Amino acid sequence: MFVDHFKATNFRCFDNVECEFSRYLNVVYGNNGSGKSNFLEAIFYVLQGNGFRTKKDSYLLKYNAPFLRTEAKFTSQSIEKTVSVAWEKEAGKKITINGRENEKTASLFEECNVIIMTPATPELVKGGPEHRRKFIDRIHAKENPAYLSILNKYSITFRTRNLLLRRRLSNPHDKDMYSTLTHNIRNLSKIIQSERKNTIMQMQEVFFNICEQLNLPSLKNIRIMYAPSPIDAIDEYQLMQKEIQRGTSLIGSHLDRLSLRRDSRSLRIYGSEGEQKITAFVLKLCEFYFLETRTKNVPIVMLDDFQSELDNDNFNKMLAFIRPKAQIFLTSLHHEVVDNPDKVFKVENEEVHGEV
Ligand SMILES: Nc1ncnc2c1ncn2[C@@H]1O[C@H](COP(=O)(O)OP(=O)(O)O)[C@@H](O)[C@H]1O
Ligand SMILES: [Mg+2]
Repeated sequence: MFVDHFKATNFRCFDNVECEFSRYLNVVYGNNGSGKSNFLEAIFYVLQGNGFRTKKDSYLLKYNAPFLRTEAKFTSQSIEKTVSVAWEKEAGKKITINGRENEKTASLFEECNVIIMTPATPELVKGGPEHRRKFIDRIHAKENPAYLSILNKYSITFRTRNLLLRRRLSNPHDKDMYSTLTHNIRNLSKIIQSERKNTIMQMQEVFFNICEQLNLPSLKNIRIMYAPSPIDAIDEYQLMQKEIQRGTSLIGSHLDRLSLRRDSRSLRIYGSEGEQKITAFVLKLCEFYFLETRTKNVPIVMLDDFQSELDNDNFNKMLAFIRPKAQIFLTSLHHEVVDNPDKVFKVENEEVHGEV
């Protein structure tokens, strides 16, 4: 897919921005703090309905402005579409797709494929298992949108169950409700664990193939290890006692462990900073491959300060992997970051200007 035209008002440091993009490689350059990431985030916002550095719309609103608005014309599977996402404090978020008002962020998630790589991406390897669970879950949800509603149901069940546990099942019907929720969390966990297992198996193969293709022999032995948390073999009464004591759910797929290992050693603990980074970026390339092949809608790729995260060789290899296929937005301090960019934008004095 491609974004052809983009407009934003009162988004982060910008009053007004309007641009026509190249369908190939767009370079966005400017000094530190000039607004490059803000610009990328604005494009991300109109395509996904939230920022990539925060989920809070109020942080995206230009200081002291009454509302923010972003709009875009994009082409997905050869069909031209329009989208706008606006937010103001009282009215909240308003998403319009092709003139249909009051759309949900889930519709944007289904409609638009965007992959973002930022200096925070290595958290996928360095951070806790929740980053990796979310990563796998979102990829699977792209292929199977019904999975998104399973995840939502899980999250509601988990939160309600925790609420009961925090008040120590003290209200009259709490025990009955707790039993029902325990049954539900078990069933939902089983579905989630089976889907995660499948996706991870496929991911392992894709990871291996991409490492071969990019000639990254040092990553060849990396395995994605999945340890689903036990769901059934727990005594009901003991479980309830423990959960009341701890005030939180101690069964369920939110406890699944997911790690990246080389020779059975965790990359999170033993990997070098560079290995963690490159593994995380290759995982994002796997995501690209999955979305491209499964949804038949080639993702837009946003690379925020990507070059400063990698050595030249790896930067060039990874860019070459996506460049022939995808519309790319690449931010950098310098416009000569790549040879022959298709369009260059300079960010300066809270404005964005196209140069080519
Ligand atoms: N909601 C906002 N309103 C106005 N300015 C903001 C807002 N959020 C962030 N900024 C400012 O935007 C500036 C540019 O940030 P950023 O896009 O991250 O720069 P960079 O070019 O280094 O990526 C920062 O100085 C920051 O203080
Ligand atoms: Mg930045």
